[in-house]
Amino acid sequence: MIHYQVVDTYEELCRLGADLIATQIKNKPNAVLGLATGSSPVGIYQNLIALYQAGKLDFSKITSVNLDEYVGLSADHPQSYRYFMQKNLFDHVNIDPAKTFVPNGLATDVDAECSAYDRRIETLGGIDLQLLGIGLDGHIGFNEPGDRFIEETHPVLLHPSTIQANARFFESIEEVPRSAITMGIGSIMRARKILLIANGPAKKEIIEKAVSGPVTPLVQASILQQHPDVTVIYSKL
Ligand code: GLP
Repeated sequence: MIHYQVVDTYEELCRLGADLIATQIKNKPNAVLGLATGSSPVGIYQNLIALYQAGKLDFSKITSVNLDEYVGLSADHPQSYRYFMQKNLFDHVNIDPAKTFVPNGLATDVDAECSAYDRRIETLGGIDLQLLGIGLDGHIGFNEPGDRFIEETHPVLLHPSTIQANARFFESIEEVPRSAITMGIGSIMRARKILLIANGPAKKEIIEKAVSGPVTPLVQASILQQHPDVTVIYSKL
């Protein structure tokens, strides 16, 4: 079931989103958080950092598993998702670095990396709260539109529109990796709670398709309609 909330500003979205995550951490200090990259979660992470700095949040027992990583980018590449997580959250809170997991984009055996990532999530007991952004083509993580929902963590060829959309973070479009490793729909759907965020008019059409359109692998986020506990927050700005 989706609880769909529309707010006016990104600030409001971030406050509500951070509250939901903070409540999860307070209710279960050793929670497993599924985390996301992209521009949308940045303000949520800033709010969480502020709560931590104010002594209101403790990450010491938290474990995190990230959704995805570009193939070919090392952890210290400024556009890698590991680097993003360090700079936007991990370096500023008391999370144990050994308990932060992001797929390894440099793995020589990508298939082995993918199945190890799924085993890791399973061993952790699954994800308590999964944070998601949404791509313009409806992708969650890097699960691109296709003819089916892929359950397991897997390598993906990025959609031309995704490469285009993510080029803004790179010096040029040629530098955007063509492939990535993404958590599959299975681990996302097994998360006990899901928070999907989207902001700005560019995301309006796709978020509405995801929330109330037909459930189809052409809009991967639409599968969330079949999850028992999803909060979607869309901000108009
Ligand atoms: C990337 C990420 C997604 C993210 C999407 C939207 O492709 N792999 O997890 O949701 O971008 O990003 P933004 O929030 O910047 O629009």
